[in-house]
Amino acid sequence: MSLLFKSFLNYICSMNVLIENAKQVITCHSRGRKFKSGKNQSEIGLINNHSIYIENGRIKWIGNKLPSVLRKKNVLKINAGNKTVLPGFIDSHTHLVFAGNRADEYSMRINGSTYEQIAKTGGGILNTVEAVRKASKNELLELAAKRVESSIGFGVTTIEAKSGYGLDTVSEIKMLEVINELNQILPVDVYPTFLGAHAFPKDKTKDEYIDEILYEMIPQIAKKNLAIFIDAFCERKYFSAAQTEKIFRQGTKFSLIPKLHTNQFYSVGGIQAALKCGAVSVDHLEVMTARDIKALKGKSTIACLLPGVSYFLDIPYAPARMLIENKVPVALATDFNPGSAMSENIQFTMSLAVQLLRMNVEETINAVTINAAAALGVSHNVGSIETGKQGDLLIFDTPNYKDILYHFGVNQLEYVIKKGEVIHKNPL
Ligand code: NIG
Ligand code: FE
Repeated sequence: MSLLFKSFLNYICSMNVLIENAKQVITCHSRGRKFKSGKNQSEIGLINNHSIYIENGRIKWIGNKLPSVLRKKNVLKINAGNKTVLPGFIDSHTHLVFAGNRADEYSMRINGSTYEQIAKTGGGILNTVEAVRKASKNELLELAAKRVESSIGFGVTTIEAKSGYGLDTVSEIKMLEVINELNQILPVDVYPTFLGAHAFPKDKTKDEYIDEILYEMIPQIAKKNLAIFIDAFCERKYFSAAQTEKIFRQGTKFSLIPKLHTNQFYSVGGIQAALKCGAVSVDHLEVMTARDIKALKGKSTIACLLPGVSYFLDIPYAPARMLIENKVPVALATDFNPGSAMSENIQFTMSLAVQLLRMNVEETINAVTINAAAALGVSHNVGSIETGKQGDLLIFDTPNYKDILYHFGVNQLEYVIKKGEVIHKNPL
């Protein structure tokens, strides 16, 4: 974190804050449920002209008549008349720790090469692996911290970050240590995911590498307590459903919670493997068969869609409507990474969801709040504005939540509040 940012934080921080008279509050309330699905995903819990009081980092009171004790309280007060308050956004799928630059690959793609062709010639994930192995921990930390700070400016108050550009024990641990350090030094919550099974390194056979994941990486990472989740890239030419299942079974033995990259290019049984291993989310889902959708129906596994990847790689968009119609809870995330989605702007992801996944505005908002929280298993604590929950919220400079999507490509966010502290204020 830059010193300037830190001193700015100290200047504006307060654990108690009173947000007064917000024109609209979008609560995304879940009333004890972990997520919203089907028709319920369109319910955002809009209330008008309400105030919110956060004390010691938690939402203590929400109401439309300010009790005099609160009015007199000597706390930071923010007048939100004519503004809209939402829960902090949650980006539940990112690869924001990386070094190097793949702008040249991007150019090649624009000129006609495909993502898969570039990967075949040693580009793609392996290109970033080379840069990450060479980078020091401090270099990675500085690059990643800047990216998280930028995410915060778009309204992200909780973020997940994956390893997966190390592909050997030392480098995977280096990445996870960086992610854990981000969580320490930044004002947002950063959730670490071990993604050793992201690709196969050049210097080992597939079996050798899977053994390294199973018997070196997982035990060491668990012992050092470096990850909460375990992920894999289940895809043709990457990890098969059987290999994914083997890796997840070992992960769960060490208390890591599975989430899975699957169905990005082909349907190869990843969803079924993920469900068998109790995955909290299945992510991507650009290519879905009727069997895959049926498998997810009625389950509590979150479908985390990443429309930024479809946009950036020019591949099909996930069948969001079909998922929602089948009552599958849908979350949205940026998938911020240097190869397939080079953007941390979650508001852009939301815009793509509305325009190209054909999700409505309300479904989209729930997908980056309560359902995204469920994709990280933390919807009891964050993802909605309800008393008792963590005081993570956003104040937009608009009287109508629909403006956030209607007025596209423009950041109307004014304040970002995390645990009752103003951690960011955008100049308007
Ligand atoms: O989520 N699909 C696999 N992994 C990333 C891409 C990573 C990269 O190209 O560097 C993704 O799209
Ligand atoms: Fe990803």
